[in-house]
Amino acid sequence: MAKFKSKFICRECGYETVKWMGKCPSCLMFDSFDEEVYSTEKVFENAVVIRPVTLQSIEDDNKQRIDVNMDELNRVLGGGLVKGSMVLVGGDPGIGKSTLLLQLCKSIENNYSILYISGEESLSQIGIRARRLGMKNQKLQLACETDLESIGDFIEKTRPDIAIIDSIQTIYSRQMTSVPGSANQIRNATLLLMNIAKKTDTAIFLVGHVTKDGSIAGPKILEHMVDTVLYFEGDRSSSFRILRAVKNRFGSTNEIGVFEMSDNGLEQIKNPSLRLLSGRNDGAYGSCVMPTLEGTRPIMVEIQALVCTTAFGMPRRMSTGFDNNRVTMLMAILEKVLSYKIYNCDAYVNVAGGIKINEPACDLAIITSIASSFKNKSVGNEWVIIGEAGLTGEVRAVSFIDKRIKESERLGFKKAIVPAANLNEAKKCSTGIEVFGVDNIKKALALVFE
Ligand code: TYD
Ligand code: MG
Repeated sequence: MAKFKSKFICRECGYETVKWMGKCPSCLMFDSFDEEVYSTEKVFENAVVIRPVTLQSIEDDNKQRIDVNMDELNRVLGGGLVKGSMVLVGGDPGIGKSTLLLQLCKSIENNYSILYISGEESLSQIGIRARRLGMKNQKLQLACETDLESIGDFIEKTRPDIAIIDSIQTIYSRQMTSVPGSANQIRNATLLLMNIAKKTDTAIFLVGHVTKDGSIAGPKILEHMVDTVLYFEGDRSSSFRILRAVKNRFGSTNEIGVFEMSDNGLEQIKNPSLRLLSGRNDGAYGSCVMPTLEGTRPIMVEIQALVCTTAFGMPRRMSTGFDNNRVTMLMAILEKVLSYKIYNCDAYVNVAGGIKINEPACDLAIITSIASSFKNKSVGNEWVIIGEAGLTGEVRAVSFIDKRIKESERLGFKKAIVPAANLNEAKKCSTGIEVFGVDNIKKALALVFE
């Protein structure tokens, strides 16, 4: 006879305790514990015999994938949506998660059966949006439902190819006492849906809300349970959106998909570099272009800097799209190695287009744009600048120089500064672009400004 015990789990961080607590000792959140009742039944009591199979008997990968007919999404999914898999799509509110999934329905509706369950919007609201996206879907099945068991039952009976649950935080099970959105409910719902997905071969998309620190609300365990975790990111003020895989059991996590939010929904951007550089002001001070790598894909970004004398005692250093501490460090290098007097200057660094860069290969481009703004000299529109800066002012090698150079060339840049260590490799792949190797930042700045 099974006995039941209870434990308390923090819905923010997953910390477990046997007694309820007002404040979580791990993440310091108040009132974040939910009770969970579990059985203490002997482990092997109801065990069933498992039947392992050989690798050869498993169906070929390609047959298991659904082509979603959107290149950017296909790529992030690792070459199509795997049948029976579970994909979690997270992102800030209003970033376009529901729009993306509705568009997915639009692009493949004729070939696959899709069930769209919304716990957030009414049918007429979805209808308005769908019509706005130009959908004339005859086959798409829509439902407004938040009851887990009913949803599970329906999917099991109708076995659609794809089911979309918008959002997992609104789904709740009547068999549990905790409120919708609590760690327990989310975990339970995900587990049940996961089992159904595997059983019926239905690919399930879950939409997940994001907490203020940027992770998907609910315990981290949710991300472990699902097959694929995608984040839809972007600056709300810009229309640029990036879909990024942070976990993918069926593909690489290095891929990104680029979209732009327009009046007619999300548009795929096949050539992000061109789009990102389109608003560039040629000849402006404090602007410089570099090819950054998003996963394995080179994207040209414009890095802007504004340096001006501070009006207060404490100079400000602000950066958008790039690590603030690193900007402070790069400015210190400029000050020490090149004797720039920027200690009493405010500095603002911005990566245009709302893109975020976290690779050191753009150090040299940031240094150059800061120097350009400080000296009031333009970098000119023929240059791209690539390189990581070291603390003594040396320029270090970067990875994938060939991809970066090719992309620069494709967009019509004529001259590139690369780390000396990458020069040979860069020369091999450059035909219409002149490459210059530098081993310290002084040489790089001399080449650009003199
Ligand atoms: P939505 O998909 O509802 O976001 P989420 O599900 O992530 O919360 O996105 C809604 C936003 O997108 C809203 O701010 C309006 C904008 N939008 C457009 O600009 N154009 C469109 O065609 C649509 C459908 C939405
Ligand atoms: Mg939504």
